Amino acid sequence: MIDFLGEAQELFEYTRDFRRDFHRHPELGFQEVRTAGIVARELTDLGLEVSTGVGKTGVVATLEGGSQEPVVLVRFDMDALPIQEETGAEYASQTPGIMHACGHDGHTAAGLAVARMLEARKGELGGMVKFVFQPAEEGLGGAEAMVADGVLENPRPDLSLSLHLWNDKPVGWIGVTPGPAMSASDRFTVKIVGRGGHGASPYLAIDPVVAGAQVISALQNIVARNVDPLESAVVTVTSMTGGEAFNVIPETVELKGTIRSFNPQVRKLVLERFEQITTGVAEALSCRAEVELKRVTPAVVNDPEMAKRVQEVAGRVFPDSVIDNKERTMGSEDMAYMMEDIPGCYFFVGSANHESGLDAAHHHPKFDFDESALPRAAALMASAVVEFLG
Ligand code: NI
Repeated sequence: MIDFLGEAQELFEYTRDFRRDFHRHPELGFQEVRTAGIVARELTDLGLEVSTGVGKTGVVATLEGGSQEPVVLVRFDMDALPIQEETGAEYASQTPGIMHACGHDGHTAAGLAVARMLEARKGELGGMVKFVFQPAEEGLGGAEAMVADGVLENPRPDLSLSLHLWNDKPVGWIGVTPGPAMSASDRFTVKIVGRGGHGASPYLAIDPVVAGAQVISALQNIVARNVDPLESAVVTVTSMTGGEAFNVIPETVELKGTIRSFNPQVRKLVLERFEQITTGVAEALSCRAEVELKRVTPAVVNDPEMAKRVQEVAGRVFPDSVIDNKERTMGSEDMAYMMEDIPGCYFFVGSANHESGLDAAHHHPKFDFDESALPRAAALMASAVVEFLG
């Protein structure tokens, strides 16, 4: 077995320096011009075949081993978030209002280390590695854009591997869950149309505020009464707007929110019930509901066989670690788009350090992680690639 953990630790400064550079210069989704430029330059210098501008700012590079198949796609995301950084770190963001608050700077840097390690071992690879550095993971459709630009063709990957540094867990922890690991995400906007009027004469108006309140209450029945209690789903109304004055019944009220689920059948059921309840309740109160449902991303579903093999790899790379096979989150990930088509394994690498205070949640202005997670992430990814191209 190749000692990728040792090699990744030797590359620690290389990886950390890139991570800090990306952290200082964060870029929002589809604007990762600087980051993508550095990634493309590094991969070109390594001698890989590099394509840029895939899905607007994505970078794809192929590494040919001893044969042209199978092809393993490994994906790292590159985008930052519209958050004002409050870590006070020496390498804090130099761009006001934008920060790497999810760890994608670490993913990109670890990806470069993986490319470096695998390039040095290409003679031992029985297949091809397709490196995908993806833009705009944070709800902007980066994976879809890359798929539309042909990332899953020429060559078509047989398998995919991807990861997330995970601040919910300490360094040392590894999560590889067979089956669903991250939820599907859907968004809704509902406009409830009534008839405006004087607040003192509700009987002459059709009140969309009351209808909106009833719709919100009735929606709670989906999870409580329709979804199998052994399955999981979330329906959350996050916004209700409409009306301004003390004495005016508005014409319309607007609701917004999110729906999460793992199982495709549950997802279908929840979306159907959502529409029925919303339109039905609105109608019962003489209003009309205009429902707009946007399917954002499917669930991340790990191929059980691949997950099992990655668990075994993790057990060999980190003999002292507990490999958790139960971690699931209602958060979502657009890697799910690629995994709908290409069987894959998406795993989590614990990155928090409570003693050092590096344990703020993802997307928090104080988010930062323990950089000793970087070589661990790179080592597990490189080892998993070799497992499938062995
Ligand atoms: Ni993320």
